[in-house]
Amino acid sequence: MTKPFQPPKRLLMGPGPSDVHHRVLSAMARPTLGHLDPAFVGMMDEVKSMLQEAFFTANALTLPISGPGSAGMEACFVNLVEPGDTVVVCVNGVFGGRMRENVERCGARAVVVENDWGTPVDPDKVEAALKANPGVKALAFVHAETSTGVESPAGDLCALAREHGALSIVDTVTSLAGIPVLVDHWGADAVYSGSQKCLSCPPGLSPLTFSDRAAETLKSRKTKVQSWFLDLTLLTAYWGGGAKRTYHHTAPVNALYGLHESLVMLHEEGIEHSWTRHAMMHQALRAGLEAMGLSLLVAEGARLPQLNAVVVPDGIDEAQVRSVLLTTHGLEIGAGLGALAGKVWRIGLMGQSATPRHVASCLGALESALAAQGFKLSAGAGAAAANRLLLI
Ligand SMILES: Cc1ncc(COP(=O)(O)O)c(C=O)c1O
Repeated sequence: MTKPFQPPKRLLMGPGPSDVHHRVLSAMARPTLGHLDPAFVGMMDEVKSMLQEAFFTANALTLPISGPGSAGMEACFVNLVEPGDTVVVCVNGVFGGRMRENVERCGARAVVVENDWGTPVDPDKVEAALKANPGVKALAFVHAETSTGVESPAGDLCALAREHGALSIVDTVTSLAGIPVLVDHWGADAVYSGSQKCLSCPPGLSPLTFSDRAAETLKSRKTKVQSWFLDLTLLTAYWGGGAKRTYHHTAPVNALYGLHESLVMLHEEGIEHSWTRHAMMHQALRAGLEAMGLSLLVAEGARLPQLNAVVVPDGIDEAQVRSVLLTTHGLEIGAGLGALAGKVWRIGLMGQSATPRHVASCLGALESALAAQGFKLSAGAGAAAANRLLLI
């Protein structure tokens, strides 16, 4: 007989989803309301204003797309890019590559600025591409590349886009709430994120914000938006319609309760405090890993605190280590993607997974999995180094 599914207990320390707080899970279990119920509509307005707060923006067009981060990405491209446009796309990992795919599927030309995986996007290269291609419609880049653990200089890149009359399209799926995402300060135009990383919600929602400039570009399109579902002019009639909301699609009501609760929790903690917590947990994890004889892929200064790419030592079976962590310790870490497959582990410290307990559990589990494969390390050194930074 088919039985209810009971998920095993895990600590989620991969590239997302991160652990979800029981407050968010309980919020999602509350009774479902109609998606046009005035009580629900009031909650939607609160979600919008808390997202504005989290993105540091006054943009009126701010809402969560009903779909994962990839839907937010696609919403930015299909609403702003028309056939025949040229878009400069920065690729320094998997998700920049996915942006390029979006540009091409919109019938536009992608001018690709390549940077080595594990390094940030270089503003000089971007400037050269913008100069060489006058009339570029948009500059697209990933602020926090989850495939490598690298932060790119978002403020500088958005400023370059403005100087050259281009819009900026910025992926903040992994950055929002983990490191500063300052939409208005950067002058960013189209920014999207994901619910399942540092916001610590289940996957499936993609917060998005458009500047007035981006909203104007959408209004003055020559062609219809290719996607009916992601057409922001239709979506804003539901999300921005005040009391006169019109049906577009049936909103994922309970998922939005969850996002609301996680934004309330972020507000209670204070977003600056959340950034500090991520930074502190990263420093403790880094100290522990180094004391165990492991090293991080990314140079200091470009490292994301919430996504740590750890170099797999020679002679170690990386998949076996992940398997021991999962099956023996109930702890999930991520594998390398694309060019980094087999070469790194990706350890996430995102949202509710950025705690001393997660750092200590991960170091302990890694130590035993590595020792089992004959890796030489000094027992307890990792935990001791991390504790020196955690016990303050
Ligand atoms: C930087 C980045 N962009 C986009 C995505 C796509 O998000 P989703 O998997 O929620 O569709 C991810 C997912 O990991 C990501 O890390």
